[in-house]
Amino acid sequence: MDEVGLAEIAARYARFADTEAHGRSPLYEELARAVAGDRVTLGFLSTLPDMKRQPNLLLAAVRHLFGTPTGWTEFRQALLAHPNAVRSLMLERSTQTNEPGRCAALLPVLARLPQPLALLEVGTSAGLCLMPDLYGYDYGPTVIRAPAMPSEPPVFRCSASETTPLPTAAPQVVWRAGLDLSPIDAADPAQVAWLETLVWPEQTARLANLRAAVRIAATVKPRIVKGDLRGSEIARLCSEAPKDATLVVFHTAVLDYVSDPADREAFAEQVMRLSPYWVSNEFPRVFPSIASRAGTNWPSGRFLLSVNGSPVAWTDPHGASLDWIADEA
Ligand SMILES: C[S@@+](CC[C@H](N)C(=O)[O-])C[C@H]1O[C@@H](n2cnc3c(N)ncnc32)[C@H](O)[C@@H]1O
Repeated sequence: MDEVGLAEIAARYARFADTEAHGRSPLYEELARAVAGDRVTLGFLSTLPDMKRQPNLLLAAVRHLFGTPTGWTEFRQALLAHPNAVRSLMLERSTQTNEPGRCAALLPVLARLPQPLALLEVGTSAGLCLMPDLYGYDYGPTVIRAPAMPSEPPVFRCSASETTPLPTAAPQVVWRAGLDLSPIDAADPAQVAWLETLVWPEQTARLANLRAAVRIAATVKPRIVKGDLRGSEIARLCSEAPKDATLVVFHTAVLDYVSDPADREAFAEQVMRLSPYWVSNEFPRVFPSIASRAGTNWPSGRFLLSVNGSPVAWTDPHGASLDWIADEA
């Protein structure tokens, strides 16, 4: 790879350090910044396909194999001593981070729709965001309790801006299904171990909530179908939803994986044809035409939550905060 290629990888890691890890994980910020300045590690990354050079994937692969390093020196030593093991894991796995805390960002939208709901989540991973009705939420002034369950439910804290129409109760979900290229089985300890490694170091509350949500998923077993969001499965699944429930097709942190903008637009058009409600919670670059309606000053490192193509809120990528922007709040 030439200098320009290496500089592009370095810029990606520096951007990750600045806009994603900064303020959320000091260790990941340190490691990503060090990778950006280390020619040997950049050279290692250049041997991987573009989609496999993600900071999250490299950092998780090294931690999964060798434990969480104390800092850059230990991380670099582990990687350089075992490059083939790290490469194989990065090629085998992908960043399927399943963050049930994102339900806290979705809830104000879901709770305002005509109930009951039929939920179809595209890019569902282990299906943890398919169970927004089974978790507890703490928005500060408003607390929503989870229904009683055999295992302790997670409680997601979310600081919401003043104009956010906070829900007073969880939505009523009567049907749920998920679609994923590579579904994760919440009852398989090896698959769950990878999900756990995808939680960033230092984020112990997030890890505890993930484990609690995984226990619920292992019991509830939300239906997850293997398939590509660009294929015909969405239409088939939509047709199976009960007609007396409000169908909602939604996705969070997924459409960035679809690299061709034309494929993303085709997906959006298909969902709008199939479902009365399309809820998207993604980085604004994913649907620039929606983001352009949310002004030109996009907050850095935030997702844009939209309903049927209209922006409604900027959200923390892990659901920890929510800034409502829709007029009708
Ligand atoms: C970062 S995870 C997000 C999981 C979940 N939506 C959440 O917010 O916690 C992205 C998921 O999208 C899935 N995915 C990526 N491209 C896809 C495609 N073309 N069709 C279906 N699923 C896809 C991946 O397999 C992965 O499980």
